[in-house]
Amino acid sequence: MPFIIAIDGPAASGKGTIARALADHYGFHHLDTGLLYRATGAKGGDPVEAARTLVPDDLRRNDLRSADAGQAASRIAAIPEVRAALVDFQHRFAAQEPGAVLDGRDIGTVICPDAQVKLYVVASNEVRARRRAEELGADPAEMLAQLHERDRRDRERDTAPLRPADDATIIDTSHISVDEAITAAIAIVDRVR
Ligand code: C5P
Repeated sequence: MPFIIAIDGPAASGKGTIARALADHYGFHHLDTGLLYRATGAKGGDPVEAARTLVPDDLRRNDLRSADAGQAASRIAAIPEVRAALVDFQHRFAAQEPGAVLDGRDIGTVICPDAQVKLYVVASNEVRARRRAEELGADPAEMLAQLHERDRRDRERDTAPLRPADDATIIDTSHISVDEAITAAIAIVDRVR
């Protein structure tokens, strides 16, 4: 049976960095599930149809990392039919040997509730806004406002809202280095492997 690591958390918490590092360390496949929602939003038109007809090439568009694409993603991500259309792709990805790391908002709660390891990565609002501003070359205050809006939408939606699974381990990256966060995550995985 493949080993699954589910990583959830709000925007710019550091979950993507930890996910990539864990996948590298263990030789697992990695899926940034936010890309599925970003690509669906970026396609335009009817979002349910866009999600149903999503192909791997859609995930390679280079405008998907922008703040606008993130906002559009969080709007269409609240539509239950959009989420349903993306479930199969994620399940197939998670079934790959020898294992997979998936990061997003609902991996531990909805997509892979039986994952062997569940991490929930958080960081203070100020730290997240600063990181995102540095990444995108934007203004931290504006980033903070956008993150707030996106997190609120992600937490308050009825379908698959952002929240830690009951059995998730919380990692707070506010006051630790990237290396420390990765070391902590590896230690958690090694305990169950
Ligand atoms: O992780 P990222 O910031 O790229 O995600 C963009 C948006 O996609 C999130 O704000 C959220 O609304 C949505 N998303 C989701 N479920 C996931 C991953 C992302 O609803 N598993």
